[in-house]
Amino acid sequence: MAGKQTTKSTAKGATVKARQTATTPNLKTLADKIFEEAYQIRLAREPAKEIQYWVNHSRNAARFSEEIARRAGLDAERAYANGLLHDIGRGVSCGARHITDGYRFLKEKGLDNQARICLTHSFYPKTKLKNFGRDFSPEDYQFLCDFLEKVEYDDYDHLAQLADFMAGSSHGLICSIEKRFTSVLVRHHNIDAYLELSALIGLRSYFSEKCGEDIYHIFADEIQQNILSDYNEGVYRHIRANLGENLLF
Ligand SMILES: [Fe+2]
Repeated sequence: MAGKQTTKSTAKGATVKARQTATTPNLKTLADKIFEEAYQIRLAREPAKEIQYWVNHSRNAARFSEEIARRAGLDAERAYANGLLHDIGRGVSCGARHITDGYRFLKEKGLDNQARICLTHSFYPKTKLKNFGRDFSPEDYQFLCDFLEKVEYDDYDHLAQLADFMAGSSHGLICSIEKRFTSVLVRHHNIDAYLELSALIGLRSYFSEKCGEDIYHIFADEIQQNILSDYNEGVYRHIRANLGENLLF
């Protein structure tokens, strides 16, 4: 079990330093072990090739978070665990409820910080809850409403929100917000696009300032490769299935 972790909320703004918590020894190793456990649970119900997107996305989120945390003066080990485990619920569950099931899965293991990330990474801005899938139980939905009303996001929450968007699931590459957002917009068109895209670009700017370098430059080679690669994140498949072939020509 990881040691008890503490979370200190910070106000937004480049001048506000995130309070660092002491690095938990072996947190990375523990996160890897827990991810493997969830992987085996999902492998028992789905073929390996079907779950590779989730594996790639989670590993990219871990790598991205660790690198940005190191440059921004945050706890890189904690950020790695946050990134790797943010979608752990997709191993033990599916649909929108993966966030609450992932939260409970990690709480039971004593990983309170990473359990929190299972919830917070999905809601930036917080108004996203109204567009979220509705396969939660009424109790879980109320729990989420209460949680979002009270929670004050800190730098680890914000980093996980950004990592979720920049951690591509295909090609094992970090991708731009804009490319990933196109995929989200096509697949989930009932979103407040202006608000959400503005918020994400704000996060890019916030962490670029903390790193002293634009994060697109930090991952420039990967982002270039990703932009030049085919859409492999379900965009074409979704258009064909839902909007028709004519739109592709
Ligand atoms: Fe994710």
